[in-house]
Amino acid sequence: MAKILVTGGLGFIGSHTVVELQNKGFEVVIIDDLSNSSEDILDRIDAITGIMPIFEKLDLKDKTKVQGFFKAHQDLQGVIHFAASKAVGESVEKPLLYYENNINTLVYVLQELQQLKTANFIFSSSCTVYGQADELPITENAPIKKAESPYGNTKQIGEEIIQDTCYITENLNAIALRYFNPIGAHESVKIGELPLGVPQNLVPFITQTAIGIREQLSVFGDDYPTSDGTCIRDYIHVVDLAKAHVIALQRLIEGKNTSNYETFNVGTGTGSTVLEVIKSFEKMSGQKLNYKITDRRAGDVISAYANTSKANNELGWKAELTLDDGMASAWKWEQEVRSK
Ligand code: UD1
Repeated sequence: MAKILVTGGLGFIGSHTVVELQNKGFEVVIIDDLSNSSEDILDRIDAITGIMPIFEKLDLKDKTKVQGFFKAHQDLQGVIHFAASKAVGESVEKPLLYYENNINTLVYVLQELQQLKTANFIFSSSCTVYGQADELPITENAPIKKAESPYGNTKQIGEEIIQDTCYITENLNAIALRYFNPIGAHESVKIGELPLGVPQNLVPFITQTAIGIREQLSVFGDDYPTSDGTCIRDYIHVVDLAKAHVIALQRLIEGKNTSNYETFNVGTGTGSTVLEVIKSFEKMSGQKLNYKITDRRAGDVISAYANTSKANNELGWKAELTLDDGMASAWKWEQEVRSK
């Protein structure tokens, strides 16, 4: 049974990926600092898969501890690296915190991987690296645009650091997965998204409004050059996204990669406007959403959705779940969380 390290494995995407790894027979070791997650996710993962993952509470900024961890786990077959801070607004306020959290930790992990005989590494990147792409749908060859925030910059710099390290490290194989907009929750309703404070992302804001925690959703602008004037994004179900990590890891373990650093878009290939997302929510939940149109939000791109040909054909992964599936599961999850 191949042993895989999942950093940030108790977070939203991390926990769903741990479940999919265990479903495929991998042994999972989780590192998490619990800064945006809690230990009871371990029990929830166990309740879904019947397997309690190994867990170490560890702050990856502590280089000595990272070194100690890798010494104790020399049999790792791969690392999926989720651990990072991800609040765009906070990153503007505290850029150095974001560079320390997202870049220092990446460097420490790569330094350990460089010393292994072989190492397979999956990195959480983001479609944010493309900014407002000139051509839609967006292919992996689209130029990287100047980042809109320090958070976005950590994803760009992170990719460059991995690429530079792979260039001089033959035994290191890496894939950066560029996520579009992750939504939804596991069908068991045991794990899902748990945003701290006021959600910045659309779908948790919708479900929190519907359940009565927020009064009203603000739709940020309806005067964009799109079919209904609201922005377009590619909403990818978190379970599909989790499966993409497992397939990417298998690709590296089986040596099917064509170079030792690759990038793949992980999206559905379909763009949806904000109003379409609201309609999908209303259809799947059977309830009306209270929303109003407000000013545009600074930094929003008009439209971003993936060309998924490379992921479909080379990686052999394709999104199976729809926007409706994502909205239905996000709503079930919100109700479950608030029923406690
Ligand atoms: C945001 C981040 C992006 C990050 C991604 C992670 C910004 C500018 N961008 O992307 O860097 O990688 O999250 O998931 O913060 N919307 C509303 N009302 C709301 C919230 C959102 O109308 O209350 C709209 C937005 O204008 C956007 C869409 O919903 O058109 C999706 O927004 P969001 O979930 O924040 O994702 P992104 O903007 O794609």
